[in-house]
Amino acid sequence: MTELVPTKDDKFSFGLWTVGWQARDPFGDPTRRELEPAEIVHELAKRGAYGVTFHDNDVFPFGSDDASRAEHIARFRKALDETGLIVPMVTTNLFSHPIFKDGAFTSNDRAVRRFAIRKVIRNLDLAAELGAKTYVFWGGREGSEYDLAKDVRAALDRYREALDTLAQYVKDQGYDIRFAIEPKPNEPRGDILLPTIGHALAFISTLEHQDIVGLNPEVGHEQMAGLNFMHGIAQALWHGKLFHIDLNGQRGIKYDQDLVFGHGDLLNAFALVDLLEFGGPDGGRAYDGPRHFDYKPSRTEDLTGVWESASANMRTYLILKQRAAEFRADPRVQEALATSGVNDLRVPTLAEGETIADLLADRSSFEDLDVDAVSSRGFGFVKLNQLAIEHLTGIAA
Ligand code: GCO
Ligand code: MN
Ligand code: MN
Repeated sequence: MTELVPTKDDKFSFGLWTVGWQARDPFGDPTRRELEPAEIVHELAKRGAYGVTFHDNDVFPFGSDDASRAEHIARFRKALDETGLIVPMVTTNLFSHPIFKDGAFTSNDRAVRRFAIRKVIRNLDLAAELGAKTYVFWGGREGSEYDLAKDVRAALDRYREALDTLAQYVKDQGYDIRFAIEPKPNEPRGDILLPTIGHALAFISTLEHQDIVGLNPEVGHEQMAGLNFMHGIAQALWHGKLFHIDLNGQRGIKYDQDLVFGHGDLLNAFALVDLLEFGGPDGGRAYDGPRHFDYKPSRTEDLTGVWESASANMRTYLILKQRAAEFRADPRVQEALATSGVNDLRVPTLAEGETIADLLADRSSFEDLDVDAVSSRGFGFVKLNQLAIEHLTGIAA
């Protein structure tokens, strides 16, 4: 067993709003005291994170005047300097204040839409100053409860307008920042626009500045819709659009649980870590960006529990990475993979240079194919999956 101690190379990052969550929910009051951003930065650094992320209003309150805003930012920056933590990603709070009750970029009220774009621009300047490379857009309030209350096509026009306007601003300023849209099906709105990875990918393909717009998928958000997160990530990678990732845990189709990574669908998390760490063309990383934990320490936890849960995210990731490496190296797994034809899928279906006419002329592919013989093949997928379980549970080691 190698050490399960996080290092900077692991690229673990956390949002200020995650460990900083005071556990206020729709039914109950906070169970924990407020944490200063600087305190969070120090605690995260101690535990091996390399980065911290934030919404504008995690650092300074909504409506702060220039002097107080600058003061809050200075305190935060001091903690960054003291710890060496970086800010890989920044985002905007476009959901807490009542002004955003019908959305930000897609509010039916034009004054709100203009205000939202200005709020993001202000924070983009700060993101650039802090060296962030990714700017996340989670449109939690972009949506509706009532189908007749929102013209969805007009809303998508306005969403596109906002993102293209902001991307134009980034390019005009020469900022080295890319945008990452974070899909979610519902909560807080009854139905949120761009509910899944697939919806967001289709939307991105319509943008003028699609070259700098990708995705920030979150484990629980796809699983809330009953979707396979690892499949979604694979498709985002396939499109070259995995710009950032929010790791956490979710148990089935229900409210957004934001559990610790791996505390939901563990087997899917195993396949995900395997993909991220070993799914690259050379067997290396398929995604080299931050491993960002967007979770909420459960309401039952005190501050000791908060920091233990922060470490649990990183430790679980490292355990899964180690198990995936052992899984890949196991000769029984390689044999099962060969039986299953997993690698054969990489061979193009038509030979190089083969034309449609050639395919039509190839009687062995159709007329003379022994359909019964081909059909009788067993793929052995269950055996492969059982080997994954045995590595995951440590029995195979
Ligand atoms: C959620 C979301 C949010 C966003 C974050 C970034 O759990 O619904 O993950 O936490 O990621 O607010 O804007
Ligand atoms: Mn979530
Ligand atoms: Mn998130």
